[in-house]
Amino acid sequence: MKRCLRLFSAALIATASLATAGLAHAGDAKKGAIVFKKCQACHTATEAKNRVGPTLQGVVGRQVAVVEKFKYSKAMKEFGAGKTWDETLLATYLATPRDIVKGTTMAFAGLKKPEDIADIIAYLQDPAAAN
Ligand code: HEC
Repeated sequence: MKRCLRLFSAALIATASLATAGLAHAGDAKKGAIVFKKCQACHTATEAKNRVGPTLQGVVGRQVAVVEKFKYSKAMKEFGAGKTWDETLLATYLATPRDIVKGTTMAFAGLKKPEDIADIIAYLQDPAAAN
């Protein structure tokens, strides 16, 4: 009987932690690297190099529109005043870039799936984790 109870509570704990894991989708950097292929024509996240778009190396936690030698649109500079690319701002922007920054020169419709966004942010936070 005692053993039976112990098994029962172990099962309860397992169920509870599964439920918590399901609530917030933790991003997966490896999956994010695959989603990032959509950005690669214009961005790199592993070098301090600008392409059509500014380098995204270290973008999580970086101020908006501060990459040197990159010519941002007026729209992005105005939007970015005093803002930092934290996870929330990135998630909002990447879902519908042209609605969030009206007049941005970033020609990208946006990522529809919240999991893709979470994965890409995990990748941007730590590109080396995808290796
Ligand atoms: C067609 C080219 C293109 C694609 C594809 C593209 N971007 Fe961009 N991105 C740009 C340009 C250009 C800018 C600068 C926009 C401006 O100044 O208005 C930019 C800006 C950004 C910024 C702001 C950076 C800063 O320094 O403030 C982020 C973050 C960003 N892009 C992320 C992404 C992600 C993630 C993807 C893929 C899901 C992506 N972009 C796809 C061209 C692109």
